[in-house]
This record gives sequence, C-alpha cells and structure tokens, in this order.
Amino acid sequence: SRPVRIAPSLLSADFAFLAQEARSVTDGGADLLHFDVMDNHYVPNLTVGPLVCAALKPHAMVPIDVHLMVRPVDALIESFAQAGASLITFHPEASDHVHRSIQLIKAKGCKAGLVLNPATPLSVLDHVLGDLDLVLIMSVNPGFGGQAFIPSALPKIRALRALIDSSGLPIEIEVDGGVKPDNAFELGAAGADILVAGSAVFGAADRAGAIRAIRERAEE
Ligand code: DX5
Ligand code: ZN
Repeated sequence: SRPVRIAPSLLSADFAFLAQEARSVTDGGADLLHFDVMDNHYVPNLTVGPLVCAALKPHAMVPIDVHLMVRPVDALIESFAQAGASLITFHPEASDHVHRSIQLIKAKGCKAGLVLNPATPLSVLDHVLGDLDLVLIMSVNPGFGGQAFIPSALPKIRALRALIDSSGLPIEIEVDGGVKPDNAFELGAAGADILVAGSAVFGAADRAGAIRAIRERAEE
C-alpha cells in the first residue's frame, strides 16, 4: 500500500568496519542510517558519540537518523547537528524542556522527532505535535538490539496514525525495536512510514535481501 522507508540500525553492525557496514546497507537499498546514541545513564548501555557520527558522515550515502538515548539532550543536539545528522530524535523524559529541545533541533537545520517508550502515552504529543517532523514509536525498551517486539506497539501506531491523519500535519511515523520481515506487514498496515531494523538486517548475510523482505512485507 503506502511506501515504507527502511532505516537499518548500525547498533548491530560491526563497529570496527563502520563505513563498509553502512555502505553494505545503502548499496542494499536503505533509505536512512539509524544511529543509536546511548549514555549509560538514560539507558543502561554505552555506544558512540558525535565524533563517530562525523567520521561516518562522508561515507553515508543517505541521511543519518540520530536516535538520542541520553540525558540531558540539548548539548548533544548541537554536537550531532554539527556532526552531520539530518534527523534527530530524543525521549521527552530526558529533556527538562521538551519544546525548547525540539526548537533547538530545528534551529540547527535538522528534522525533529520525539521518541515514545512502550509505556509513554501519546498524550506527551498534545502540545508539540505541530512542531514535529516525526514521531518514533519504540516497540522495545531502549538500550539494546535484538530484543523481542512488544505487541502493544501496534494499537499505539494505529492510534497515532489516526491522530496525525486527523491533524492533517505531514508528520512521519517511525518504529524501532524487534522489526522483522515477520511483523513488517502489520507495521505497514498500522501506518508506519519508516521501519528501523538492526539485528534483522545486520544479522543477515544478504543485507539487500533482508531490507527488501522487510520493505515488501510492509508495503503489501
Ligand atoms: C534500541 C535501539 C534500536 C535497536 C534495534 O534501543 O533504539 O535502534 O538497534 O535493534 P533490533 O532491530 O535488533 O531490535
Ligand atoms: Zn534506535
């Protein structure tokens, strides 16, 4: 039905060969590169920062989608905008001033998104929906790749789709966590525009095949 874009999560890539890994998925049809930033504080894991994003940027053939799992967020928004992010998303629980953080992302020339954890209600969007380019629905708890998809994300995506459609705003829905060819049909049907997939893409020997399988199921 509707077109669905695929954003492989580099969290499941081999970090010793990051440029080659990125290339393998953009050659394989990836629309975005999903870059997971964890601080061992907001989430119990530690990944990479703006230095690595800036190093990757000249090798990224598609926009870099930076998912900030850090607290606080504002200083890193500036650093990642500088490091070449096209899109920056953050968790509202991690910012004292959500509206200010959204405006900061946009002032730096990036697209802005809020990330909703599995237990975070859609009502956090109430007064900022019109300021957002994207909403990211987490279908796992943030912190690790390879976790099982939480099914309550599906009715949440449907409700968000209805909310966005009735608002008439051009806001995209991204879904992150446990995305596989097996659940891509339901996610596409629920109204997802962008699917993040880490282990399902980088765990496959044929990255292009994995990306194609997810997209084909999502667009059925
Ligand atoms: C989890 C990250 C995800 C993760 C997804 O906190 O935000 O982007 O890489 O990995 P999979 O697709 O393996 O669930
Ligand atoms: Zn992510």
